[in-house]
Amino acid sequence: MMDRIVEPELLDALPWNHPEALRARADLRRVNLLMNNSKALAEYLRMYLPQFTSPSPHLRIVEIGAGDGTVLLAVARRLRRLGVTGDVIMMDRHPVFSDDTKAAFAALGWKVDLAVADVLEDLDSTFASADVVMANMFLHHFQDAQLTRIFAQLQKKTNLVVACEPRRSRPVMMAGKLLWLLGCSALTRHDGALSIRAGFREKEMSSLWPDREGWELMEGSANLFNHGFVARRRAMQ
Ligand SMILES: C[S@@+](CC[C@H](N)C(=O)[O-])C[C@H]1O[C@@H](n2cnc3c(N)ncnc32)[C@H](O)[C@@H]1O
Repeated sequence: MMDRIVEPELLDALPWNHPEALRARADLRRVNLLMNNSKALAEYLRMYLPQFTSPSPHLRIVEIGAGDGTVLLAVARRLRRLGVTGDVIMMDRHPVFSDDTKAAFAALGWKVDLAVADVLEDLDSTFASADVVMANMFLHHFQDAQLTRIFAQLQKKTNLVVACEPRRSRPVMMAGKLLWLLGCSALTRHDGALSIRAGFREKEMSSLWPDREGWELMEGSANLFNHGFVARRRAMQ
């Protein structure tokens, strides 16, 4: 299988409110809905957060590279059904969080803070601590050395990191060629192929985690198309 190659995606170079960028984010919402990553992410939280054993769990969740927040909202809806409430910080370098999404969090009784910030520069100043840091379709943007730097920062701020990222495999590459069937734009189809080539397989994310002694690392298939990653501090067990 080909090596991991990280190349700049077209969406990242466009102004956030460019019509092509808005269309690409709408495409992403449809793709995320189809892939149902929110199910895998909510399940990781349920399995690995000790708060779930308390009668009315309350979680502090940070999502890095949160985009318009619709995936985190879907996770929150799943957790709300289990009686969980939360405070969330959605961090993205573009101000793409929609008012509808903010209102939907409020309707669930969840508090949302938005941080327009760069994960490579501002992670330290954006939040002090969280029960869990989540990423969806985000970590593949970074080179291995950058990921190790990001992970090193996260290790200081949380006991649990969960992620869903593209799986770098031939079948997923083939499936990516069918994005046009979902009505995705040329830009989304281009970035989709790049994302898969920058995606992960086997234990690649685990191998980049700085403290492999003190953390339990789980990595593998999250669903048909995506690769899941969970890092949990051992002292939590
Ligand atoms: C492929 S989108 C995924 C968005 C969202 N997680 C989802 O699944 O819909 C990647 C997001 O990462 C953001 N991003 C890229 N590089 C970033 C950085 N260095 N710091 C913060 N956000 C970044 C982009 O603005 C974009 O919203």
